[in-house]
Amino acid sequence: MQLNIALIPGDGVGPEVVAAACDVLDAVAGRFGHTVQTTTQLMGGAALRAGKPALPPETLAACQAVPATLLGAVGDPAFDHLPSKERPEGGLLAIRKGLGVFANLRPTRIWPGLEETGPLKSHIARGADLLIVRELTGGLYFGEPRQIDRQAGEAFNTMRYSVGEIDRIARVAFDAARTRRKQLTSVDKANVLETSQLWRAVVNDVAKDYPDVAVQHMYVDSCAMALVTHPTRFDVILTENLFGDILSDEAAVIAGSIGLLPSASLGAGPGLYEPVHGSAPDIAGQDKANPLGTIASLRYSFGLQAESDRIDAAIGETLAKGDRTADLPGAGATLGCREMGRRVAKSVLGT
Ligand code: IPM
Ligand code: MG
Repeated sequence: MQLNIALIPGDGVGPEVVAAACDVLDAVAGRFGHTVQTTTQLMGGAALRAGKPALPPETLAACQAVPATLLGAVGDPAFDHLPSKERPEGGLLAIRKGLGVFANLRPTRIWPGLEETGPLKSHIARGADLLIVRELTGGLYFGEPRQIDRQAGEAFNTMRYSVGEIDRIARVAFDAARTRRKQLTSVDKANVLETSQLWRAVVNDVAKDYPDVAVQHMYVDSCAMALVTHPTRFDVILTENLFGDILSDEAAVIAGSIGLLPSASLGAGPGLYEPVHGSAPDIAGQDKANPLGTIASLRYSFGLQAESDRIDAAIGETLAKGDRTADLPGAGATLGCREMGRRVAKSVLGT
């Protein structure tokens, strides 16, 4: 098979983690007899520095033309003074919208050997295995009107959801729950927000089509607490854009490091695969980043079972040997980003 992938290294640690993931991609292709065809595209601060908008039209076109785009990270403090839409992050939001990837899947699990790594007591974290299904193209991130008026000393955003937007993301979450432990927690703030009241009603409607899935509703503040006190209670968490952004970073605490968290953004067409972490400008260019979240994102981009299982197994084997990046304290050697990628690639090849 020919695997056509667009690469967006982006900003900060993005180029490093994407390079490491490419080593693994090549290993997978070698082992399973695929050929990889990649193009490299500009986005975010990297595009701005080249005198282009945060999402150059040619980048969107290239990503629309292939089934999978692998993105490193977007965000560059040098452009923090720009209006939201012109910032590097504006490019990320625009590509999500442009590809129509309304469903963002962010799984959290504890890799064997990393039970003691995170700040949670291991008896609390052990066995946690959850999936956050985050709505990605609506809510406060995109709602109009929005404005900052420095003169008036006022700013506002709009949280807006339609029945159709809630219905389609709910179905993604229910379908995912069916492949897992069949428990869905829908997270909202229905005690305060009208958007959440609509959210809850639509989720209850969709639930009628999934009688085999157990549904509970939870307020976002209470969920934030339960995630770190009783993480094993959760299977699939369904939530809107901003709540999902916040809860998915919190879920990284359970895994031990945000560098471990992969994500897949899906819609009707091509997918966008990116680690959950940001651009981490403080360690950019130092070969210190953890590439495993990016490498694990790769597994979702193939839709090929044996290949995906091999990537997962290779990450597990590498960690089991004690290999660690700087974000993961452990007894073994501390490796650079690229070396970690090489070791996973070797493990993919079984060498
Ligand atoms: C994420 C990031 C982005 C988001 C930023 C960089 C715009 O935090 O993917 O979680 O808020 O969606
Ligand atoms: Mg985030």
